[in-house]
Amino acid sequence: MLKKIESARKNFEDDISKVTNPTTLEELRIKYLSRKGIVAQLVEALKEMPKEEKPKVGQALNQFKNFTSEKFDELRTKFESHSKSKREFIDLTLPDRQYTIGSKHIITQTLDEIKEIFKGLGFSVYEGPELESDYNNFEALNFPDDHPARDMQDTFFVTKNFLMRTHTSPVQIRLMTEKKPPLRAIMPGKVFRNEAISAKSYCLFHQVEGLYVDTDVTFAELKGTLVAFAKQFYGQDVQYRFRASFFPFTEPSAEMDVWWQPKGKDGRWLEVLGCGMVDPNVLLNVGIDPEKFVGYAFGMGVERTAMLKYAINDIRILFDNDKRFLTQF
Ligand code: PHE
Repeated sequence: MLKKIESARKNFEDDISKVTNPTTLEELRIKYLSRKGIVAQLVEALKEMPKEEKPKVGQALNQFKNFTSEKFDELRTKFESHSKSKREFIDLTLPDRQYTIGSKHIITQTLDEIKEIFKGLGFSVYEGPELESDYNNFEALNFPDDHPARDMQDTFFVTKNFLMRTHTSPVQIRLMTEKKPPLRAIMPGKVFRNEAISAKSYCLFHQVEGLYVDTDVTFAELKGTLVAFAKQFYGQDVQYRFRASFFPFTEPSAEMDVWWQPKGKDGRWLEVLGCGMVDPNVLLNVGIDPEKFVGYAFGMGVERTAMLKYAINDIRILFDNDKRFLTQF
């Protein structure tokens, strides 16, 4: 038996010295170390040996087994490191990869700026969902049943009672229903309108709603707040005016215009927001006593505001994702 092991070892040394690649190495592994390989056969034979001889032969067999597997491992690592170093060859003549760093979209930047200004004026930020109920979007805001804004032409209805909100004013309803006055918050977000797409209007845009409800809120405060905003946002010398207007959920109502003066061209007034004192009917709808509380509200279009500030003349470019435009900001 010891002789058998000795000759197996010799054969193995002979065999392994001829191995030149992973395939022949694997063949050899099967020949010696697989379940029916030479080593396994010798282990089987060992079981048949008389007890007295077993320890000695067993030791020799163990040594042989360790010797073979060590040799295999050695060669395997050698082959592996060889192929790895080939794969990882570094070509220093290649041009480097160009990483471009993204930036915030101009609308996000404008929204951030608007939020910061109103935070400075004591407003917190509150958000509502884009999919709204007809009740929050229209009814609670005092829109009569036959109001043209409910028309299928303007509103993306999802079901009979649910729609994509057409303005951020429903968030006023949510805020007043969920929290007790005094309330002072802005409510930014996306709004949707089923309008013909042109340089001036898009089916999707952003608004920032504002609401202040307390026991002694006045129209003068509303104007003061909006003027303070306009001066910070457009610059101290901004020219503005308030015009009487109408919204179902405010009474009285007004719109604010800002003078737009493109270089070398005629200037004109541009409407930037709607505002007014919260209609008592709206307060009743949300369970706030209109004898005790008053409120003002406003809503501004963010695209409008950004277009005015950055002299952009086509709203569609804000939604195109054209890098040549986006990287200018
Ligand atoms: N929700 C109105 C609109 O979309 C704007 C508005 C908000 C007007 C709040 C008055 C008060 O046009």
